[in-house]
Amino acid sequence: MASATVAALLLASVLVAAAPAAARAGEPYVFPPTPPSPYPMEREAFLSAPALRALLATNTTWNDSTGVLTPDEVPLATPFTCGARAPGTDHMVRCDASPPLGGIVLEPPCAATASIIFLHGRTEGPWIYQTLLHTLLRSAPTAFASVRWVFPLAPRYTSTVSPSHPPNFHLWFDLTPVFDEAIGRGVADAATTVAGFEEALVDADATNDALGLFFTTRRVEAIVAAERRALPAGGKVVLFGHSAGAAAASHVAAVSRVHLDGVVAAQGYLPGAPALLRLSGVLSRTRRRYRVELVAGGADQIGRPALVDASARLLRRVLRGSTDVHYTLLPGATHFSMLTPGRDADAVVDVLRRYLE
Ligand SMILES: *[C@@H]1O[C@H](CO)[C@@H](O)[C@H](O)[C@H]1NC(C)=O
Ligand SMILES: *[C@@H]1O[C@H](CO)[C@@H](O)[C@H](O)[C@H]1NC(C)=O
Repeated sequence: MASATVAALLLASVLVAAAPAAARAGEPYVFPPTPPSPYPMEREAFLSAPALRALLATNTTWNDSTGVLTPDEVPLATPFTCGARAPGTDHMVRCDASPPLGGIVLEPPCAATASIIFLHGRTEGPWIYQTLLHTLLRSAPTAFASVRWVFPLAPRYTSTVSPSHPPNFHLWFDLTPVFDEAIGRGVADAATTVAGFEEALVDADATNDALGLFFTTRRVEAIVAAERRALPAGGKVVLFGHSAGAAAASHVAAVSRVHLDGVVAAQGYLPGAPALLRLSGVLSRTRRRYRVELVAGGADQIGRPALVDASARLLRRVLRGSTDVHYTLLPGATHFSMLTPGRDADAVVDVLRRYLE
């Protein structure tokens, strides 16, 4: 049944992708057309239950593929055990390998009134984000005492586009080509301005994994629906992403009609901007009753502040004022500093709390 659902989703994606004319006409919005070239498909959408358990239990030193951390700065792993408390917290780890979750829910000690759905960044070792969950929960145990933390794992991709990219990364969509394109060149040059990034983000030649984004958007919508069912009426559901997960969350905010209470996209960017701008007439008609907040770290060399700022500006252009899009700068924060207890983790918690009240 589970795999039939996935197959149906994938089939729907392919059918939608094969109807670019309808999408270009603008109504109803389905998804931007995909190129006719060979397509980088995800190869492992959901882990088996034993593979999920093993991944959550990982207790080895994390490999920072971005290369920004010195060995001393690499955060320690925080192994999780299904059915046990997340170490040092009052939240219980509930594992569910099946679609749409394909991950875990951290069940709070008190009756839940809110859910935070967290989309992790591009990595070979998504388990390092358990350290982030651990840090944030311990930073504000009272604030999160009634909050479910929902942690789906992204599919593993093999990029067929960027030969410089190693295989087996967990990704919400294949963003590997951007490292070799205008956005990647912008990130590599510390002098790139907001205007420079805006230009890179709307580069018509940029590769856009429309099918991967479509699949992730539908999966997030299904997870949001499950959270709505798990919460009492009036419960808050917040989508929170980091890095490539923030890119996916920004995309969900742009295209989806799903009922959220906030989107917090930390240290990412807006993918597929040319297609989104083309469809902005339709996308800006969706009634979103929530705010979108793009958060940057002042010392981030990956999701550079100018890239996040440019993404916020573009998202405002796409949504044409129909939704409040904020840009928040956390001075001094680096790409991974929120994983470690301290000022930057506390600042992220403060941002999230705005959406839980
Ligand atoms: C994880 O490894 C560390 C050593 O790096 C050890 O101190 C700790 O007890 C281990 N945790 C678990 C749950 O095995
Ligand atoms: C760690 O990541 C770097 C950069 O992607 C890669 O070159 C290296 O092979 C990786 N190391 C391991 C042990 O996977």
